Formats: sequence, C-alpha cells, structure tokens
Amino acid sequence: MIKVDISNVWGQLSLPDLLSTEKEVSAAHRTLTERSGAGNDFLGWLDLPTAEETEEMQRIRLAAEQIRQSSDVFVVIGIGGSYLGPRAAIELLQGANHNIGKGKGDPQIFFAGNSLSTRYWNELCRLLEGKDFSIAIISKSGTTTEPAIATRSLRWMLERKYGTDGARKRIYAITDPCKGALRQMAEEEGWETFVIPPDVGGRYSVLTAVGLLPMAVAGIDIRQVMRGAYEAVKAYDLRSFENPVWLYAAIRNLLYRNGKVMELFESFEPGFKMLGGWWQQLFGESEGKDGKGIFPVTAEFTADLHSLGQMIQQGARNIFETMVRFAPPQQTHTIGSDYKNLDGLNYLAGKTLDYVDEQAYLGTLAAHVDGGVPVITMDVGELDEAKLGELFYFLELSCGISAYMLGVNPFNQPGVEFYKRNMFQLLGKPGYEN
Ligand code: PA5
Repeated sequence: MIKVDISNVWGQLSLPDLLSTEKEVSAAHRTLTERSGAGNDFLGWLDLPTAEETEEMQRIRLAAEQIRQSSDVFVVIGIGGSYLGPRAAIELLQGANHNIGKGKGDPQIFFAGNSLSTRYWNELCRLLEGKDFSIAIISKSGTTTEPAIATRSLRWMLERKYGTDGARKRIYAITDPCKGALRQMAEEEGWETFVIPPDVGGRYSVLTAVGLLPMAVAGIDIRQVMRGAYEAVKAYDLRSFENPVWLYAAIRNLLYRNGKVMELFESFEPGFKMLGGWWQQLFGESEGKDGKGIFPVTAEFTADLHSLGQMIQQGARNIFETMVRFAPPQQTHTIGSDYKNLDGLNYLAGKTLDYVDEQAYLGTLAAHVDGGVPVITMDVGELDEAKLGELFYFLELSCGISAYMLGVNPFNQPGVEFYKRNMFQLLGKPGYEN
C-alpha cells in the first residue's frame, strides 16, 4: 500500500480533529461506491481495473506492436484528460528524456493538440520530416478545437506521405463508442478505434485506451499497470483511517477548513512533473467549483526549492504540501573523491546521490514544517508498472472522496466551457454569433 504519513501536520491539526471527520469520510466513500451522489453517471472508472486482459487490451497491445514496428515517431493528439494521463505515465516510468536515442522498433512519442502554439507546431513538423510516423487521436467529445486542428493537419501529412490507404493503417482514434465528430470520421475513413466509455470522464480515463495505447507503444506492460490498479481497488476499499486514502482525503479537507487553500504536490523526481500535471487537473477540475476548492499546484524539488522555496518558507501561510516519495532505483551513483577538492565536495565522497537526495528531503521537510507549512508525505515505494496503476487509482479514489467531503460534484467541469464560448464567438464559429 502507498503510505500516507501525517505526522507533520500535527501542530496545525489534532488527532481529535481527524477523528471528528470519520463519519464524513465514511459517508463520502459510501456515496462513491454506492453510486448515490452527484455525478454518479460518471463512475465507470471504478470498474476499469481488471486482473484479466480484456479483448480491448489485447487489441491495444496488437496496435501498439504494429505502431512500434512501422514508426520512428508516434504522435499522440489530445488535450486535458485526453493527454495528461499517458504523458504522466510514460515520463514517470521512463523519465522526461525518454525519447533520446529511440526510433523504429521503439518509437519516439510526442504529443500534439494540447496547445494552439505555432512554434510548437513548426517544431513538430521539423521533427517529423523524413520520419515514418503514426498518430492516435484522443478526444471523448470528438469536437475539442485544439486536437481537431492538429488532427486535420497531421492526417493530411500522413495521406500525402503514404496515400489514403497507407495513412488509414497509421491513424488510430480513441473516442466515445457512439457519438461525436471523431467517431463519425473514424468510421467513415476506416480508422481503427478504441473506446472511452461514456461513463468515464476525461480526467478519470487514464486506465482506458487513452492511457493504455500510448503506454503500450512506449513499451510499458499495460497488463501489469491494470493488475496494480485491480489490487488497489481491493486494498483501498478499507473503511477506516488505516486506509491511506481516508487519511489523505480527510487531512486535506481539514487543512482547507483551517485556511490552507493551496496544495503543493511535489516530488524529488524530475520524471514526476507530468504526473503532477495530471494530479493538478484531476483535483482542480473535480474540486474547483461553487466558489470552493483547494488550488492545486505541482512542484519539482530540488529545482523548485531554488524558485518557490522562498515563498514556501516565508510567504503567505495559506499552503500545505504533499511530498511524494519513491524508493531509489537499483542502479546507484556514487560521488567520487577529487584530490584537489577545489569544489570542497570531498566531504560527500563515497556517498551516493540517493543519500544526498534523502538528506535534502529531510532538510526540506524540517524547514517547511518549522516555517508553519503542514506536510503530508506519500510514500509510494518501488516504482514499477503495477505501482503506477495503483497510484492512479489511489489518487482518483482520494479525489472522489475528498470532493464529496467538500460538497461538490467531482465529475463535472462546467467552468471549462466559458473560455470556449468566448473563443468560438471571436472565431465566428457557426452557432456562437451572439
Ligand atoms: O477532464 C475533462 O473532461 C477535460 O479535461 C477533457 O478531457 C478535455 O477538455 C478534452 O476533451 P475531449 O476528450 O472531449 O477532447
């Protein structure tokens, strides 16, 4: 199980405070699993984890193998919940620089359709020059502007390069099983499709083909990811404060009620950045409504200690931190001895980088707690495919329970529509003239 250590929130909260929330957490958990609360038609993610490989997963693995053999580059088109999960998974397991040295057999993976930046588009085009590539278009609604624009251009590039028939074998669509422009287009054009179940919202979709196809193309064993998530469904069903999900959901709500309106979700692993982005969307879109919600911010230490560190230590006392820890990798790096010692680092000679990292973590923790910032520690342990599946489910469940405790519907996102309406009106989209 993932361990949640709350010993560094005492002083700001007390044990009786925590115990006073027991009925509330229990009710929120029940509301979720009995599917009796607001947004209960979007709880399909509870049933996604599986111990047995499904037919859809087999098709995903076959498609991934085909993409791996035929492509130097795989472009994943999508935004929000149709983008962050796969990128988070790949970067957490393989590092932010996972593309270095890759090509046919083990393709590079790039993401598109998650911005409207011309610079980014030009870079992508340069990168695809002379390369064999395939694309996956991910959009549940099938109508989101950013991925739709990227799709139109990339499919034309494929058709010019390989002809209509050749391109058809390199385009995969992941969308709603029945409705939306992408579904219609995929059927008309004969692209292979995978399903985002109608009862699974974007930010809870990482364990559908949305996350699984890109993961499989990256060489990640998706059966292990699903196995980890499946084990997590059982493990985190525990109805007491022995359940770390309960601790996390209860403590963040208590801190919020005590004026801690911002949560920093951070780790000492650079490969964690996109997982932080995925978490930010999960909690931000689920909780930020009706004038409520903890503002989610993600940070990467030690890098951000040299930028955000000052603010955390001595700025407005309205934040708390959740520090995510992973067990160190097998392969260690030892700091060498230098006979001149001009950099003064010989006091670290013979020590591993992990040892130094651990001291940085302990020092940071003590400093921030001394500075009046409550810190929750989340110890994930060994990081592998199964653990990744567990972590995704753990955070999704925590989010559902926490949002119900906050008194909001965790599964809608009405606020996201406002910018789109303005943009469509400015762009002159038919139907948005007024
Ligand atoms: O969580 C969500 O629902 C959103 O972030 C969506 O995933 C995002 O807007 C993309 O939508 P779609 O998959 O319909 O293109």
